[in-house]
Amino acid sequence: MALDHASRRTFAIISHPDAGKTTLTEKLLLAGGAIRLAGAVRTRGDQRRARSDWMKIEQDRGISVTSSVMTFDYDGHTCNLLDTPGHEDFSEDTYRTLTAVDSAIMVIDAAKGIESQTRKLFEVCRLRDIPIITFVNKVDREGRDGFELLDEIQEMLALDVSPMIWPIGMGSDFYGCYDLRDGSFSRASRRGGHFDETLKVPSPEKLGEMADVPDHIVTASSEAIELAQAGYAPFDQASFLEGHLTPVIFGSALNEFSVQPLLDLIIGHAPSPRPSPAEPREVKPDEDKVTGFIFKVQANMDKNHRDRVAFMRVCSGHFKRGMKLKQVRTSKDILVHSPIFFLAQDREIAEDAQAGDVIGIPNHGTVRVGDTFTEGEALRFTGLPAFAPEALRRVRLGDMTRVKQMRAALEDLAEEGLIQVFQPEVGSQWIVGVVGVLQLDVLASRAKQEYGVTLEFEASPYEMARWVTSEDAAALATFRERNRLAMATDRDGSYVFLAKGSWELDYAAKTYEDIRFLRTKELQ
Ligand code: G4P
Repeated sequence: MALDHASRRTFAIISHPDAGKTTLTEKLLLAGGAIRLAGAVRTRGDQRRARSDWMKIEQDRGISVTSSVMTFDYDGHTCNLLDTPGHEDFSEDTYRTLTAVDSAIMVIDAAKGIESQTRKLFEVCRLRDIPIITFVNKVDREGRDGFELLDEIQEMLALDVSPMIWPIGMGSDFYGCYDLRDGSFSRASRRGGHFDETLKVPSPEKLGEMADVPDHIVTASSEAIELAQAGYAPFDQASFLEGHLTPVIFGSALNEFSVQPLLDLIIGHAPSPRPSPAEPREVKPDEDKVTGFIFKVQANMDKNHRDRVAFMRVCSGHFKRGMKLKQVRTSKDILVHSPIFFLAQDREIAEDAQAGDVIGIPNHGTVRVGDTFTEGEALRFTGLPAFAPEALRRVRLGDMTRVKQMRAALEDLAEEGLIQVFQPEVGSQWIVGVVGVLQLDVLASRAKQEYGVTLEFEASPYEMARWVTSEDAAALATFRERNRLAMATDRDGSYVFLAKGSWELDYAAKTYEDIRFLRTKELQ
């Protein structure tokens, strides 16, 4: 592993389902020398599915529900690629994974442009000013006009675009990709095949004589390239790092066009670990002492053990196996004697980690999403919110003798961030909240497979949940008293108001001016 944090690149790929995220992940690992054979990402996925039945949902729906981390070395750098779930339902897990990266690759299908999920994920990146590289995929197929796509990115996402690699023809007329920066032309030695050679072509007009591209394509491409260079912003590193400009690469993940240049761009221009927002002070990656935060917890990764793995992004310092770290929320020291390092390649077991790396901490449920770990300082990393759920359901248990297991299932899966659980102040039926309804299927399926309980969901009379707080304790007490039937607590004991609809929420907000109704809650 590369030694210092400056050589870390921690990034995620965001895309709409089917745009090519899995294929690109695989090809990046291949280009980075992390795997030897294409197909490994899928194989790994299949093995995972075979191991845990709940992942059948992934298979049935053709989606990827879990997220993981893949670490590999390339060109003297250590790349940490964090996988984000690609399904349509936006989950908190996805959001939190993006809090742990320093940059992102946005994959767009050349035939489709910006799709709904890409846009949602992009908005999350923008909230944190995460620099984005755009990869327009599948240029080997008939797609939309390159300029139309550039303009769409520019307008819909309000970003400057800087084209770097341009396709020479598309679909059946696809001849290769031309690098606007240095005139290198990548092509397949066999038409329609995988990329396998790069020629230096000093200007696009020479593509005909030097690379056998037919005249009409040369003419059209030369004009397009001139326009692409003149009509859009030149690449500006500062603007890219601030999240205002995105370099755009046209390519084909499947046929490996522009994959290597993408990896080179990440190494050359994507940021090394950035300072992390925390209270009472920001944490810089080059500080000596180890700090980190938990952005994800996964229960039951191994069915034979009830253990969980907490994923910690290291924010500063040099972590070593066997270190003692303080869990700031509980002020307890935790000995991290068997951290998990996520290597994409079978190599020697890693013993240490730097800022930007992710380690897995096995635990029995003591570590939570949002937890900060330090070598003693009372710090708290911020920006890891819980979101008010968009769907609420009452939970009914098929077999009343399994209440204990149901509790365990709901509590564990709430800890993972899959669902939120609310306990009404009156009555005993739990209410679960999810950001996307697909999560209910995942919950039911996992409760069955991993805890042996059959859960059923009933419509709840409530549609919305808001955390309620007030500077005025008496006002909060009065509010709770008057709305007892609509009050609940979350698993931290925070008060939650359940409303039957937006009219009721508006009414409550008008009637009780001293109460704040919060849509997000910062995790403690
Ligand atoms: P996702 O993770 O974003 O959902 O997308 P994934 O990589 O699974 O790709 C979705 C489909 O698009 C796959 O086809 C894949 O082979 C295809 N694809 C990805 N990149 C390219 C490309 O550059 N060019 C072309 N022509 N196709 C591409 P599939 O038929 O759904 O799956 P498979 O049977 O090929 O595995």
